[in-house]
Amino acid sequence: MKVTIVGAGNVGATCADVISYRGIASEVVLLDIKGGFAEGKALDIMQCATNTAFNTKVSGVTNDYSKTINSDVVVITSGIPRKPGMTREELIGINAGIVKSVAENVLQYSPNAIIIVVSNPMDTMTYLALKATGLPKNRIIGMGGALDSSRFRTYLSLALDKPANDISAMVIGGHGDTTMIPLTRLASYNGIPVTQFLSEAVLQKVANDTMVGGATLTKLLGTSAWYAPGASVAYLVDSILNDQKKMIACSVMVDGEYGESDICIGVPCIIGKNGVEEIIQVELNQDEKTLFANSAKAVRAMNEALKEILV
Ligand code: NAI
Ligand code: 2OP
Repeated sequence: MKVTIVGAGNVGATCADVISYRGIASEVVLLDIKGGFAEGKALDIMQCATNTAFNTKVSGVTNDYSKTINSDVVVITSGIPRKPGMTREELIGINAGIVKSVAENVLQYSPNAIIIVVSNPMDTMTYLALKATGLPKNRIIGMGGALDSSRFRTYLSLALDKPANDISAMVIGGHGDTTMIPLTRLASYNGIPVTQFLSEAVLQKVANDTMVGGATLTKLLGTSAWYAPGASVAYLVDSILNDQKKMIACSVMVDGEYGESDICIGVPCIIGKNGVEEIIQVELNQDEKTLFANSAKAVRAMNEALKEILV
């Protein structure tokens, strides 16, 4: 199975690294516009093979899409990342042009690929990729909820002082500081509601920390995060290539689900060999429904900026 990752920067290279050492794909191609950069990253990752015992072939190319031919999955991380104090929304103008041309280029050589969009503002970039390519909606997946949910589980695990893998929790809605919705009411510690262990105040802090999880790291690092984002993409790729049918919150085109349509927004999805195989409809309470409607409104407003690009 072959995976192409466009953008060999922090997130793209980390994703290639995780895919390789976990043996998720037999071949990974990194592509970047910066001369020699993807080649260098690929060679560095390949030189881990003997020490971490993997057999994935990793190669890098400078803007040569012919090398990406017949990819099963294409990950788009190309674009500029968030700088301190910069919102994901401010990235829109620059990243829209990049994501549109990259999506068109990859499909020339891999017409059957499933595309994962990572570049921010991710919900809007996913919508753009879908509209610009005309691909069926199961084949365009925005990665945001997988990361936000893992941050939510991490903060819950820290509050509980228990392992994150014992915690089940999901974040839906837009991938933005004010648009994401940590579903605290449904979070559990091995099936037991976390509300049984943590006070209302602590749970509120966990939800708040989750929502600004990306911004917190951007402030600490001087650029946006990459380890958890790269691993989150690899988790999605694994579910697709190995047809695991995992339930993962992803930004996908909704068509009446959760009362919304014609936007890409984070909802729980079954992810398998066909990409998005099903959207799971969670019974939300009235407060959650209001939060989801507000989140959709904000995502829709951001998509307005694409009008000129999509004509
Ligand atoms: P980075 O700057 O380290 O890497 C981006 C790479 O894209 C650079 O190497 C650059 O040369 C390349 N690039 C730019 N234009 C290109 C083009 N036309 N064709 C091929 N390559 C091109 O950035 P990083 O940290 O890897 O972030 C990438 C994107 O992912 C950003 O938009 C960031 O905001 C977003 N992001 C999204 C997350 C999510 O959960 N959806 C999480 C983390 C980052
Ligand atoms: C993150 O959440 C900036 O979207 C990026 O880390």
